[in-house]
Amino acid sequence: MSVAPRILEVGPRDGLQNERSILPLDLKVRFVDLLSDSGVHEIEVGAFVSPRWVPQMAGSDELFAQIHRRPGVTYSALVPNEIGLDRALAAQVEKIAVFTAASETFNKRNINASISESIDRFRPVLSRSHEAGLPVRGYISTVFFCPYEGQMAPDAHLPVVRELLELGTEEICLADTVGEARPDDVRRVLEQVLPECGADRLAMHFHDTYGHATENALVAWREFGIAVFDSAAGGLGGCPYAEGAQGNVSTEALVNAFQAEQADLEVDVARVREAARLIRDTP
Ligand code: HMG
Ligand code: MG
Repeated sequence: MSVAPRILEVGPRDGLQNERSILPLDLKVRFVDLLSDSGVHEIEVGAFVSPRWVPQMAGSDELFAQIHRRPGVTYSALVPNEIGLDRALAAQVEKIAVFTAASETFNKRNINASISESIDRFRPVLSRSHEAGLPVRGYISTVFFCPYEGQMAPDAHLPVVRELLELGTEEICLADTVGEARPDDVRRVLEQVLPECGADRLAMHFHDTYGHATENALVAWREFGIAVFDSAAGGLGGCPYAEGAQGNVSTEALVNAFQAEQADLEVDVARVREAARLIRDTP
């Protein structure tokens, strides 16, 4: 029997960070509230990053104050440094995510740090988060392909996985930032990482630029026992520092695919579609 999948809805963060316009706060609140009612397990509500770097995420503090938190759903956010952590703690975030990459060039463009500088930055963030009782996810971007360096070696991310494990991150999320990975790339990467990090500590984050994201997720779940998958309502998303990358795998498509495989997953796709429509219909 396969493990029950868990859906981490990243639409309010990955989805909205890439929107051309900055959406009004009340619309974001309605978006998150609809997603809360859909049955997803976790929602990445926002990012406590520099508003100069990603203006779309500037209102994350107010957003956390206004959403209606549903028991059983975890409300998380991106945190790049201690300034971000101070904001996240004040907003009563329930889990934080630090983020680095397998590619030096992408990391420099995205967070203005080398990989090792980013790990040094995370040290106090991790220890203070754990003191406050917050679990921490560590994202590794560009595990498969980098928009600047091209195809990555299948073990390029391993040193970063080891550093994140040593820091004590409860969850490590392997990201296909540009959405170019195919099922065999997923197999190659997971064969490398699983001896180092148990499947119960891993999550996958697929963008869907070339239409392989759903298949990739099913491979990671069926063949490697990964349970946690990121997705965005309506397939929103993209990284401002990864030009050409399309949205995340859509929550609707991913849930439908899991349900077609008889997975133990109860997410109301109609409610997710309603949430996606709210954003799509906003000029
Ligand atoms: P920096 O410019 O090197 O930072 O940026 P700094 O420490 O020199 O600070 C510069 C100014 O920013 C200072 O203000 C700080 O106070 C302020 P000033 O004195 O000039 O007025 N500042 C902040 N303000 C609010 N909140 C903060 C914060 N930090 C500094 N947390 C930094 C470094 C990391 C801050 C910047 O590069 C940044 O915010 N980057 C975030 C980029 C980002 O959000 N990218 C998208 C998310 S990652 C992604 O999408 C990938 C993912 O989906 C997985 C995948 O698909 O691969 C997760
Ligand atoms: Mg992403």
